[in-house]
Amino acid sequence: MNPTLDEGLADRVALVTGAASGIGLAVARRLATAGARVVMADVAEARLDKVVHQLRQEGGRVLACAADVCKPASMDGLVSRAVEAFGGLHLAVNNAGISGKQAPLAEQSIDDWLRVMDHNLHGVFYAMRSQIPALLASGGGAIVNVASVLGQVGSALSPAYTAAKHAVVGLTRSAALAYADQGLRINAVGPGYISTPLLQALSESDRARVAATTPLGRLGDPCEIAELVAFLLSPRASFTTGAFYLADGGFTTA
Ligand code: NAI
Repeated sequence: MNPTLDEGLADRVALVTGAASGIGLAVARRLATAGARVVMADVAEARLDKVVHQLRQEGGRVLACAADVCKPASMDGLVSRAVEAFGGLHLAVNNAGISGKQAPLAEQSIDDWLRVMDHNLHGVFYAMRSQIPALLASGGGAIVNVASVLGQVGSALSPAYTAAKHAVVGLTRSAALAYADQGLRINAVGPGYISTPLLQALSESDRARVAATTPLGRLGDPCEIAELVAFLLSPRASFTTGAFYLADGGFTTA
């Protein structure tokens, strides 16, 4: 019999990038509530310290780590810190990302293209490259990469973000195949439009439009993504690897 979702996560050591806000914060809180020990990483140090303090007050065993997913050495340091602090690494959620500026391809600046690629694609590569040896040393485990509905469909005004998120899905599948026989499961999730600070890149009228065109008729809540991530990390998803799960209120179905 499988353990309950929370039993399967209790005492595991988890690392979450972009944990100071939005989906990453909801994931860290969900895992901490299940009894996992959570290393929360972000570049926004002051906000990170504040939310870590909050989660500790809620009883979570969490640790703040300033780290930048755009820097490979920072990802190496983050993993070393997690292993030093908690004795190993079992779970990782590569969530940090940015939206970039809204513009059609010919008006996309090279700088913005590179910035979006660095954060949303290279950051996931650097993070997994540092995490995988530690996860294998701890006996396997699971990674969830946070892609997007724009890992499945296009968006006229977000060429870099769309390309990066499609690539994250490919990277996830490739890594899943490479490590399946060593007990490491690697999946991706595709959130639809979720109510977080990242959506501030859209105008208020665009936010209202995406909520209205989402079949469930609203934006998603970060907790609704955290629930799916927690499931994919847990032994309840033991036969799931290389998969890309959408949680988009039906957006890509319409
Ligand atoms: P958010 O803006 O609320 O949180 C992102 C966090 O990542 C922030 O705390 C930020 O400081 C951190 N971050 C940014 N650059 C970083 C770096 N270089 N190193 C470490 N941390 C860094 O955004 P949200 O919405 O929670 O997004 C999380 C993930 O979900 C992103 O990958 C995003 O692309 C994805 N997503 C979000 C959707 C939405 O509608 N909010 C929809 C689909 C995907």
